[in-house]
Amino acid sequence: SHHPTICYRPIQPSDLEVLERIHAEIFPIRYESEFFQSVVHGRDIVSWAAVDRSRPNGQSDELIGFVTARIAMTKEAGIGDLLRYDPSKPDQTLVYILTLGVVETYRNLGIARSLIRQVIKYASSVPTCRAVYLHVISYNVPAIHLYKKMSFKCIRRLQGFYLINGQHYDSFLFVYYVNGG
Ligand code: ACO
Repeated sequence: SHHPTICYRPIQPSDLEVLERIHAEIFPIRYESEFFQSVVHGRDIVSWAAVDRSRPNGQSDELIGFVTARIAMTKEAGIGDLLRYDPSKPDQTLVYILTLGVVETYRNLGIARSLIRQVIKYASSVPTCRAVYLHVISYNVPAIHLYKKMSFKCIRRLQGFYLINGQHYDSFLFVYYVNGG
């Protein structure tokens, strides 16, 4: 075992294959190839990769973690009421986290926390942005702990939000307010 040197950078087209593989490995939901194309080309999506610079065998730039997010207009997101949506400011935006993951051998090192920090920093730098939000399946204890520990507020439980292999699962809606919420 070696000492990791974790760095963060944008996701780029050369990450496509590994990005798809990791998503397939760690999520119970299948994502369309169009989603991965949008991520690696930064089309309506912002993203960060975590890489381990001290990894041998030409793997020093290979993804070991990622976060992907989309900019949403507050008025379209359907959670405007929860964000005290102000109709006199129709340009207000939100950052919606789509996927977050860290490969198993790199977990519990604070990498997910750092990836979420990047998203919060980015959202805070967008003057129109009011909040970062996301959905998490109700049985995902590690992720729920992470969001709570990072001061996200759980504002709603959505019954049957996810449909996986014919079975419905609830989700929690977590929000982190920025720029005064
Ligand atoms: N059990 C309980 N709490 C945990 C666990 C765990 N197994 N793992 C992380 N946490 C919490 C802890 O509070 C931890 O802080 P602490 O160590 O100071 O107590 C905090 O999260 C931060 O941990 P990190 O080391 O930053 O998290 P990690 O890099 O291990 O990644 C993640 C966490 C992303 C949930 C990882 O387990 C993973 O990839 N899981 C599979 C994919 C997934 O569930 N992604 C999130 C789905 S939600 C979405 O995508 C919007």
